Amino acid sequence: MDPVVWQESWSVGNDSLDDDHKRLVSIINRVSDSMSDGQDPVWLLNDLKSYAKYHFDREEALMEAAEIEGLVEHKETHRMFVEWLTTLQATINLPEARFILLEAANEYLRDWLGRHILGTDMQYKGRI
Ligand SMILES: [Fe+2]
Repeated sequence: MDPVVWQESWSVGNDSLDDDHKRLVSIINRVSDSMSDGQDPVWLLNDLKSYAKYHFDREEALMEAAEIEGLVEHKETHRMFVEWLTTLQATINLPEARFILLEAANEYLRDWLGRHILGTDMQYKGRI
């Protein structure tokens, strides 16, 4: 799989949130690489979850302070992502399922990242 590359068109107009998104891209690429380079996907998924939660909390606080509409729905997309990740973490330890789960997870993560940043997050571009 080719790595995901953050592009200027993904900028939400806030440098620190852009940096968070770049870091998420980097972790997602490492999850993808773990299928061939021997890195531990369990550790990487833990890292992804803790960084995503940290980022979501910050993003939600900034949205709340700026009174951006749609916060409840936005928070729900964050909550569902963490829930999906939690389910993946609970099943990834099954050796017979690991490869196929990681393959599906990589597809999902790439799709989610693009949809979330370019769809949901863009709604606050230039306002926080
Ligand atoms: Fe978001």
